[in-house]
Amino acid sequence: MKWDHLHEERILILDFGSQYTQLIARRVRESHVYCEIHPFNMAIQEIRAFQPKGIILSGGPAGVYQKEAPLPDPLIFSLQVPILGICYGLQVMAHQLGGQVEKAARREYGPATIDIIHPGDLFKNIECTDVRVWMSHGDRVLTLPADFIILANSDNSPIAAMGDFGRHFYGVQFHPEVVHTPCGKNLLENFLYRVCHCRSTWTMKSFVETSIQVIRERVGADQVICALSGGVDSSVVAALLHNAIGPQLHCIFVNNGMLRTGEAESVQTIFRDHFEMNLIYLDASELFLQRLKGVIDPEQKRKIIGNLFIELFEKEAGKLPNVRYLAQGTLYPDVIESVSFKGPSATIKTHHNVGGLPEKMQLQLIEPLRELFKDEARLVGRELGLPERIIMRHPFPGPGLAIRLLRDVTSEDLQILREADSIVLEEMQASGWYDKVWQAFAVLLPVRSVGVMGDERTYDQVIALRVVESVDAMTADWARLPYELLQKISNRIINEVNGVNRVVYDISSKPPSTIEWE
Ligand code: XMP
Repeated sequence: MKWDHLHEERILILDFGSQYTQLIARRVRESHVYCEIHPFNMAIQEIRAFQPKGIILSGGPAGVYQKEAPLPDPLIFSLQVPILGICYGLQVMAHQLGGQVEKAARREYGPATIDIIHPGDLFKNIECTDVRVWMSHGDRVLTLPADFIILANSDNSPIAAMGDFGRHFYGVQFHPEVVHTPCGKNLLENFLYRVCHCRSTWTMKSFVETSIQVIRERVGADQVICALSGGVDSSVVAALLHNAIGPQLHCIFVNNGMLRTGEAESVQTIFRDHFEMNLIYLDASELFLQRLKGVIDPEQKRKIIGNLFIELFEKEAGKLPNVRYLAQGTLYPDVIESVSFKGPSATIKTHHNVGGLPEKMQLQLIEPLRELFKDEARLVGRELGLPERIIMRHPFPGPGLAIRLLRDVTSEDLQILREADSIVLEEMQASGWYDKVWQAFAVLLPVRSVGVMGDERTYDQVIALRVVESVDAMTADWARLPYELLQKISNRIINEVNGVNRVVYDISSKPPSTIEWE
């Protein structure tokens, strides 16, 4: 299915490997214009078929004169489509159109100020002097290509922005997509609305409407299954499909016994009782516990849980007649990871439980969120009436609590971890901190330490509290929670959870640590 052709007005972002490319896409989407990221060497026929209203050339770590420097097909400059080059994208534009690029005497990295000489459409409604921008470049444009004029300069970059008003080509040396360029949103919107004449039609409401139509057409009278975990992505997929095809959707929720307090019940209440979906609930807690008996290695735990999940899911699905499709909550960042110039990033821990299912079961995939960022998926969920506690839910690993108790899984340890975890979540929510952080959870450490309770000596287990801030889980930092909150969580865990006499706070960042302990 070609989802991309559903949206009339599209911006094409060619990726030259900048760490900010996704950010450009998010900014464009936030301005309600649909865009896609493709590799810098996208074939010109494909670009033509994509029919972009405008093209953005991203930044990137290379220099245009390097051997094997990433360069786009120069025919993009003959498409009669507006182009905005950002940082390396600006240099590409200058280089390919006959200007000169040179190594700057010194790298310019961080905040800078520019002065605008010719605002044109790009800098409309932006102050002209001492404009704060974020620079991050080594090379710079030395001479302009024919028909270009300088739009802005800075002390270190005489050509901080250039433009050819006739052909609607623009380039900026700084990064408008980062928050450290306060006028960046304005600049990008000027490009989208004034230069490319896009209208702001990309909204989650329109996304829902179009998706429902497309899903209906594609599925026809067939049946679809969906592995529901209660997490944001699978919940949004289920709600969207339910809206589109109602009873033809069958959700399967497998309780692997590694869930948190009340999770299995709440998924059933929301999806079966409230949304009236076909929900198959399978409690396989005992079976998972049996298979995990004595297993300590985290990757082994993941494998066992993943495989058993597939086995059970397949069996349940096999009982349903005429199933042709499997719906999955793949998001845009997963898709870009696989097409990006940088190539897929290394997997440190194996994730995703449903991998391998579609081929094995000969099912076709339906991935209606493939083009959405996480925050857009959340908006879709809200649009579809999912409760806030699902929409704003922190990520929770598929193998669940099994990878948060750092030894073999027993029901006793699971119980301890569950109780501690509930306290963490309750207090995070009560203090308003839950929505400010990426994840907050308890980890049960495989050590005992001495304590004293009343007059008695105790020799009990330790809970590590892990609370992190992050934007994409690729990097993370520990949250600076108020001492009072830490104190409350610690006191409650030690007083209320039998078998725990000590709580420690994890103050490691990722990298070099990871978010989960296993
Ligand atoms: P790490 O620990 O690698 O985690 O920093 C990054 C993000 O991924 C989640 N995570 C998992 N999710 N299955 C999942 O579905 C897994 O096996 C798994 N391991 C880690 C983690 O919670 C964090 O959000």
